[in-house]
Amino acid sequence: MIPADTPSPAPQAAEPRALDEEAIFRLVHRFYDRVRDDALLGPVFGGRIAPEAWPVHLAKMCDFWSSVLLKSGRYEGRPLPPHLALGDDAGEAAFARWLALFRPTALQELPPAAAQAAIAHAERMAYSFRLAIAFHRGEDTTRIAP
Ligand code: HEM
Repeated sequence: MIPADTPSPAPQAAEPRALDEEAIFRLVHRFYDRVRDDALLGPVFGGRIAPEAWPVHLAKMCDFWSSVLLKSGRYEGRPLPPHLALGDDAGEAAFARWLALFRPTALQELPPAAAQAAIAHAERMAYSFRLAIAFHRGEDTTRIAP
């Protein structure tokens, strides 16, 4: 028989408690694992980032999210140019899929408030990329909805 004062087991998927570099590392690595497995986005990234270049990209993305969420100031890049260069690979479906993979990963790997902040930041950047891409193509940007 189980004694009445036996502590209940820890939940299987414990919620991440702290927003720290370790949580950001997990967010970035799990997210790009999903991206690389994705039928739409996998080939887009695979065509631009060689297998041996992935550690550099992942480290850069850890720096980026650390700067956004922990204000560490580690990312000093310019995010727009590589996205402008994506051409037809940066269509509406690609951005929708990117966000559809990012949202659940953020909720899984970050504490709730940090996950919401990360998702809101990614959504704002996706919107600004979509606007800039359409503008550079000479398209009507008023048809782009957030
Ligand atoms: C259609 C969706 C997207 C695609 C296909 C995409 C693709 C890429 C690729 C291929 C790179 C690497 C470029 C290179 O090193 O040559 C990159 C870099 C990057 N992406 Fe995205 N991206 C997408 C959406 C986003 C969004 C929504 C964000 C906002 C969080 C984001 C943030 C970044 C950042 C910060 C970099 C590093 C830029 C640098 O400093 O070199 N991306 N992306």
